[in-house]
Amino acid sequence: MNHPVLSLHDVRREYRVGAGTVAAVRGVSLDVGAGEWVAVVGPSGCGKSTLLHLLGAVDRATAGTVRVNGADVGAMPDAEATAFRLRTVGFVFQRFYLMPTLTARENVELPMAEARVPTRERRERARELLAYVGLGARGDHRPAQLSGGEQQRVAIARALANRPALLLADEPTGELDARTGAEIVELLGRLNADGTTIVVVTHDDSLARAARRVVRMRDGVVEDDSGARP
Ligand SMILES: Nc1ncnc2c1ncn2[C@@H]1O[C@H](COP(=O)(O)OP(=O)(O)O)[C@@H](O)[C@H]1O
Ligand SMILES: [Mg+2]
Repeated sequence: MNHPVLSLHDVRREYRVGAGTVAAVRGVSLDVGAGEWVAVVGPSGCGKSTLLHLLGAVDRATAGTVRVNGADVGAMPDAEATAFRLRTVGFVFQRFYLMPTLTARENVELPMAEARVPTRERRERARELLAYVGLGARGDHRPAQLSGGEQQRVAIARALANRPALLLADEPTGELDARTGAEIVELLGRLNADGTTIVVVTHDDSLARAARRVVRMRDGVVEDDSGARP
């Protein structure tokens, strides 16, 4: 494998609930190379979202190591992890989570503003990204003035704003009808063909089939990781 963008070694995550603990991820080891497109599938509650949050340095493992682009994210102080995440990881969620008061263009510019990208450069890049996702004519629309599929495309453009090494998506087609979902799958395919490394958690068979490698989870562990296709 070319240099791994993600490298997990025996990763565990337990949640404290009341007096007890829930073991959501129970020892996952996984490498994802640059340029891969991986779908993580498995029944509800098997730990997919928990794993994705660990991959994106949003959450910390209880045990084991998570390396993203070679950096041990579990060892980073919070502020450093936040800065690292801003530049290295793009997130896409089932429910889009766009800022309702901002236009599409402003939503895409937001992570660049946080990363202190100069104004002109971020205007230019937001314009390019919105064109890339097919929304060149929608930059001034607010989320409520866009369809679900369009909102998800804005969210994907936002996730790509700081040129992340890794795009993570949690059920990105979960709120969309089949046809709109297919457009998102097509967009992810185009992004991957253009070199973006993608890990997507999904229940959607057509999305899982489109990915080039399928990692099947069950009860917090990887049950099968043999589905890689050239
Ligand atoms: N913040 C939390 N606190 C306690 N338990 C949690 C929390 N988040 C998830 N869990 C539990 O961890 C397990 C895995 O959840 P999750 O990763 O969301 O699964 P999936 O995304 O595969 O549906 C589930 O049993 C869930 O109830
Ligand atoms: Mg989930």
